[in-house]
Amino acid sequence: MVVHDSAKQQLGQSVEILPVNWAEQVRELARERDAVILAHNYQLPEIQDIADHTGDSLGLSRVAAEVDASTIVFCGVHFMAETAKILSPDKTVLIPDAAAGCSLAETITADQLRAWKAEHPGAVVVSYVNTTAEVKAETDICCTSSNAVDVVQSIPADTEVLFCPDQFLGAHVQRITGRENMHIWMGECHVHAGINGLELSQRVEEQPDAELFIHPECGCATNALYLAGAGVVPPDRVKVLSTGGMIEAARDTDASTVLVATETGMLHQLNKVNPTTEFAPVNRAAVCKYMKMITPAKLLRSLRDGVDEVDVPADIAERARRAVEAMVSIGTTAATRD
Ligand code: 13P
Ligand code: SF4
Repeated sequence: MVVHDSAKQQLGQSVEILPVNWAEQVRELARERDAVILAHNYQLPEIQDIADHTGDSLGLSRVAAEVDASTIVFCGVHFMAETAKILSPDKTVLIPDAAAGCSLAETITADQLRAWKAEHPGAVVVSYVNTTAEVKAETDICCTSSNAVDVVQSIPADTEVLFCPDQFLGAHVQRITGRENMHIWMGECHVHAGINGLELSQRVEEQPDAELFIHPECGCATNALYLAGAGVVPPDRVKVLSTGGMIEAARDTDASTVLVATETGMLHQLNKVNPTTEFAPVNRAAVCKYMKMITPAKLLRSLRDGVDEVDVPADIAERARRAVEAMVSIGTTAATRD
């Protein structure tokens, strides 16, 4: 038996006792079950390392849509596993803990979206993938942080857009597209909203030569662009990126330090693809408690017992599928294969 405690260290959860051959058991059970293991970039390092594919929301959705395995074990949060089920309704989709939610997805309900649509007849609804299946069913086209700009640009310029639910991603898209007929829902993710502009400015003052990787959900995204505009940081050193975009940028950078504004699980992949650059979190406390609910012991249990199975009612899945398939076809991010 080995004691696993990286989850505990990050979130104060109880220590897990794991079999010494945990990794072999996981791989063996995955083989027996004909399962592919997908892990989001915010997962615990052990989970990222054992997964068949690690990536951002868009890359993993693409894998879920194309993979041959009959079972998908989604190590991420619930809306991600739901998205996989919407794209692959004939596959069994498991999540190691169905209670792994998302504070951002909770900021808009299907009823609220229906009421908003009624106020703007004819508008095209763009929903971030961080939404429930019911909200996706009311949506014209979904997007992720890596293709949100492309998705909005694909809509005729004279058509109103309702963008939900993340206000910071919405503001970023509006800034890039210059689109005035875009209404933005005032939702936010508690982890990213907590990475604020003041904190970023302090970190930049301490490390003036650092490059900045900023997730567009962050409360500090506007401040980062202000720092670039004001000449505090050269504009080419400020990058607003999805988690997948950060991995690509990490491969290319020759900076000695990069300040990273997103959930801290991201640092594992960044260090893996570029061990010579120092990747430092803007906020060490930016830990998503939902992502960290997926632990090594729960992954083992999931594969052994076939739990927790994710299902989406057929009528909702059918209505959501068009919006999700449109999302998957726009943009370029791919998941990595270990
Ligand atoms: P990405 O789409 O960049 O992977 O982000 C997902 C997410 O939940 C961010 O908090
Ligand atoms: Fe949701 Fe925020 Fe966690 Fe991402 S980091 S899964 S948006 S709560």
